[in-house]
Amino acid sequence: RNLHFMPTLSALNVFICIYICSNHPPRPVPVPRNNNSSIISAVDMGISDEEWERLQKALDWPIPDEEITHLIQSTSPVHSTFSIVGLKESYKVGENISVIITARDHNKNLKRYGGDFFKAKLFSTELKASVYGEVVDHCNGTYSVALLLPWEGQAQVNVRLEHSSEVVQILKKYRESSFPRTHFNGYFEGSGPKNTRIREVVECNLKWGADGSWRKGDCCCEHKDIRTGTVWQCERPKNLSCDKLVRHSGGRLENPLNLLEQQLFSK
Ligand SMILES: *[C@@H]1O[C@H](CO)[C@@H](O)[C@H](O)[C@H]1NC(C)=O
Ligand SMILES: *[C@@H]1O[C@H](CO)[C@@H](O)[C@H](O)[C@H]1NC(C)=O
Ligand SMILES: *[C@@H]1O[C@H](CO)[C@@H](O)[C@H](O)[C@H]1NC(C)=O
Ligand SMILES: *[C@@H]1O[C@H](CO)[C@@H](O)[C@H](O)[C@H]1NC(C)=O
Ligand SMILES: *[C@@H]1O[C@H](CO)[C@@H](O)[C@H](O)[C@H]1NC(C)=O
Repeated sequence: RNLHFMPTLSALNVFICIYICSNHPPRPVPVPRNNNSSIISAVDMGISDEEWERLQKALDWPIPDEEITHLIQSTSPVHSTFSIVGLKESYKVGENISVIITARDHNKNLKRYGGDFFKAKLFSTELKASVYGEVVDHCNGTYSVALLLPWEGQAQVNVRLEHSSEVVQILKKYRESSFPRTHFNGYFEGSGPKNTRIREVVECNLKWGADGSWRKGDCCCEHKDIRTGTVWQCERPKNLSCDKLVRHSGGRLENPLNLLEQQLFSK
């Protein structure tokens, strides 16, 4: 399924990873259907229970049992290794080869937990062909991959550490938080005294995430998208009312990473 061989479209190889080692969250309770088109539920999106399970499995990522405190404890692309199990002189087209990946930290110590994001492929530069394999996380610092051998001739194996499990945790943490990464500008316009026009630019953002709001207190004007239920918050303009919002544009970006986190990304 995921081991598709596409000689002319090798850039489109599909990578699917399924983890077998942790529990999946229960499906959210669908919002009861009513006559109100502003509410979209999982049921309305047409996702079956089986599809929901499949998506959860595909998205799930095991969490290390402890937080690391030093950079050197993160997975090292230099010291991590892989080997081909039972390497033979030759194989038949259609056979699999099995690859074992061993993750190590920057001190060359074996990792004891999983969650690293590895990609593994079989490729031929001559044929401009490649095929990715499913990486199975054993949650103990080792991973296995089955790679299909779809063509005749030579093939090489490449394993790439996309992100260490530590970086995956950081990505997960910020994905689930309402930390504002992007800000927008909200443009308010209205009439002032003596036929003047007042224009004010304030900061806006989406209201979302666990904390609910990117600004505390009664900070903001709220604008709700009645189709999706999404709430847009703009700082309250000084001299104009909330309904005078006319447009918005992209604003500043904010980097949430602390120093250790930044270093983990660059390691
Ligand atoms: C939805 O609309 C139908 C017909 O207009 C009505 O019979 C039904 O009671 C409504 N349901 C709800 C939950 O409002
Ligand atoms: C539909 O939903 C909107 C937003 O949640 C709410 O203001 C409105 O009263 C609802 N209308 C009905 C008929 O339930
Ligand atoms: C190769 O590996 C895939 C994925 O693990 C498996 O579904 C398939 O049966 C294997 N094929 C052979 C010939 O072993
Ligand atoms: C990791 O788990 C796999 C699968 O359970 C097992 O075969 C392997 O021996 C384990 N490796 C280590 C280093 O514990
Ligand atoms: C709001 O109005 C006051 C009084 O007219 C003016 O001094 C102030 O600059 C205005 N503030 C903004 C943000 O336009």
